[in-house]
Amino acid sequence: MTRVFSGIKPSGAVQLGNYLGALQNWVSMQDESEAVYCVVDLHALTVPHDPDELRSSTLSLTQMLMAVGLDPDRCILFVQSHVQEHAECAWLMECTAAFGELRRMTQFKDKSTGNEFVSAGLFTYPALQAADILLYDTNQVPVGEDQRQHIELTRDIAIRFNSRFGDTFTVPEAIIPSSGARVMDLQHPEKKMSKSEDSPQGTILILDPPDAIEKKIKRAVTDSDDEVFFDIDTKPGVSNLLSILGAATGKTPQEASDGIERYGDLKNATAEAVVELLKPIQEKYHDLADDPGETNRLIAKGAEKAREIASATLSRARNNIGLFSHN
Ligand code: TYM
Repeated sequence: MTRVFSGIKPSGAVQLGNYLGALQNWVSMQDESEAVYCVVDLHALTVPHDPDELRSSTLSLTQMLMAVGLDPDRCILFVQSHVQEHAECAWLMECTAAFGELRRMTQFKDKSTGNEFVSAGLFTYPALQAADILLYDTNQVPVGEDQRQHIELTRDIAIRFNSRFGDTFTVPEAIIPSSGARVMDLQHPEKKMSKSEDSPQGTILILDPPDAIEKKIKRAVTDSDDEVFFDIDTKPGVSNLLSILGAATGKTPQEASDGIERYGDLKNATAEAVVELLKPIQEKYHDLADDPGETNRLIAKGAEKAREIASATLSRARNNIGLFSHN
């Protein structure tokens, strides 16, 4: 059976790009495969953070993942730091990845530029991500477009480790959706939509109330010619709305443009589709948020199941790389 693994950081509120680019696929893949999903709290330590906020957003993100449709009976859902194998395997990955490879990662460049304090962890972040994926003998990694380079690096690390130390890791592939793989900021369509708080009007949060969603989409930046067609280079704002509409309704952006003539109609259709898409998720999230005890129980069980797989892979890797074992 195909093994699927993916992760999401508990930093800031979940936004529409996370859902359309990744989580929607996570939900559908839990039935076709053996799926393992992770709230990657260790990755959230790579940038300045508030400890209490990290703790509470780890819990609320787990609840959000269940609200979007992950079912702990049909997938393994856990918190990264609860399975210590991730941190240990990351060291093996750091010693397999080349400095130059990590230096070429565009996310490192984006996140480090202009910051006063850049942690060493931000630089080695993709090695930890490779550990996450490789520990589970993963075949497929459902992610948005921005993670493609990290998955490529994970593949290179797995291939290098296997060729140096013998067959140890499965080489994974990225699964990226045809619509919604790169949802852009509604106010700055040249920038990807993100959880960070610098563009509240350009970012749709999964928990935004319907009137806020409508307002943000109606004020989305387009251009002045009022013609609806998909072309990212000449019409970034309109193309972004078409991608969102397509991803929300199971269509390609081109199909989503059928029958829509004017920007007003495009914005109305997109707002309506997003509100409808998010309504059941918001309802379920509020129910789950009332019962943190149950969430804690489920993630403890998830960590146990994850540990079983991860520890077997890690002992294979420890052995093959030449670490002495006392038993
Ligand atoms: P993170 O937490 O930034 O994002 C989680 C997922 O959401 C996708 N995504 C988007 N997709 C489309 N449009 C957008 N605007 C958008 N913004 C975010 C991301 O591509 C991602 O799939 N490094 C990862 C977390 C991670 C991971 C892993 C992923 C750690 N270990 C192992 C896969 C496998 C990250 O920061 O995702």
